[in-house]
Amino acid sequence: MFAKRLAQVSVSATLKVAAEAERLRRDGYDVVDFSAGEPDFPTPEHVKAAGKAAIDANFTRYTAASGTPELRQAICSRYAQDCGIDVTPAEVLVTVGGKQALFNAGMALFDPGDEVITHAPYWPTIPEQVKLMGAVPVIVSTRSEDGFAVHADAVIAAISPKTKAIVLNSPGNPTGALIDEGTVAAIADVAAARGIWIIVDLCYERLIYEPVPHNLPKVLFDRHRDRTVIAGSASKAYAMTGWRCGWTIAPKDLTSAFNVIQGQSTSNISSITQKAALAALGGSQDAVTAMLDEYRVRRDNIHAWLTAHPGIRCVKPRGAFYLFPDISRLLSPDGVASSADFAQGLLEKEHVVVTPGEGFDAPGYIRISYATSMEQLREGATRILRFAESLQPAKATASH
Ligand SMILES: Cc1ncc(COP(=O)(O)O)c(C=O)c1O
Repeated sequence: MFAKRLAQVSVSATLKVAAEAERLRRDGYDVVDFSAGEPDFPTPEHVKAAGKAAIDANFTRYTAASGTPELRQAICSRYAQDCGIDVTPAEVLVTVGGKQALFNAGMALFDPGDEVITHAPYWPTIPEQVKLMGAVPVIVSTRSEDGFAVHADAVIAAISPKTKAIVLNSPGNPTGALIDEGTVAAIADVAAARGIWIIVDLCYERLIYEPVPHNLPKVLFDRHRDRTVIAGSASKAYAMTGWRCGWTIAPKDLTSAFNVIQGQSTSNISSITQKAALAALGGSQDAVTAMLDEYRVRRDNIHAWLTAHPGIRCVKPRGAFYLFPDISRLLSPDGVASSADFAQGLLEKEHVVVTPGEGFDAPGYIRISYATSMEQLREGATRILRFAESLQPAKATASH
């Protein structure tokens, strides 16, 4: 009865978890929720003020579908300042979050049967959007033993004559891993020679903890500018998830194609949001640094607390705000047999909400969002450790 394209596409695993948590909360339980994929901080004051001022000034009408010229210019200026790249407003289109940025790219580039390479563990929307377009996701696995590093040779080996694009996400959700500049350069060189598009999801680009080289826009612009799409977002850096603002930076002709898609679907994003995003991108960046500093302290604490248990191994995330521990040592075939069972048991026994790794193509792991208060992190860690202990008390005490 519904269109065939829907047959392949799955519902978000995170939404399922959130619904269960909501049910427990309604039943009066003290739930610790580590499922949020969004900052817990309020939107910075000057950004909110710009949104309010936009309403008061009656800036409440349609804008150009691609976004106001001033916001597109502010995006260019931000990348000029942060990455040293020279982007013109004709290469920028403002979207309903990074999600629509990726969606527009898929709509404009993927034909049924095309192959699109990406890496796992992944943010599920990436392969699901590929399927929505009738294209085929080709997944390159990464391993926690290796810090979830994406290796250029593995990506290049996955290329076939049907490969249309490679989608990279760094910092990555759910692992917090970064892709090295050298890796992106090596992939870009091959992609350039083979006419393959690179779409890079940089929605967490401002949330990197240590000062490591990670100027992927510059690496791609230097090598492969005519077939690069940058998908960016105001959501995570500026605590603006509900405002819905992202963008693409892409060659002019592709940006015109995005404009056609958006002009015939959503049109412009909220005019009010555009004024707020202008303040976010163009104003002081102190709030971004303050939030990052707080995430870093939380990361260090939750990582130390959980890895104190011998059954929990965890790579320290280098960006974003998720911990992705390997809990496979706590599983047993005759008890809690999978990370999905683990998440379910943790929810039922300890009322802690985590997202099981299955949804990210990573069974044996759970995702913990530390975009929540230190008190909640402490309490949640205590409950997780208690639950872990209840699964394998012998193993845990033996190694102490
Ligand atoms: C990896 C990744 N890319 C893109 C997005 C899109 O976010 P938004 O549409 O709010 O910009 C998310 C949101 O969770 C994400 O985790």
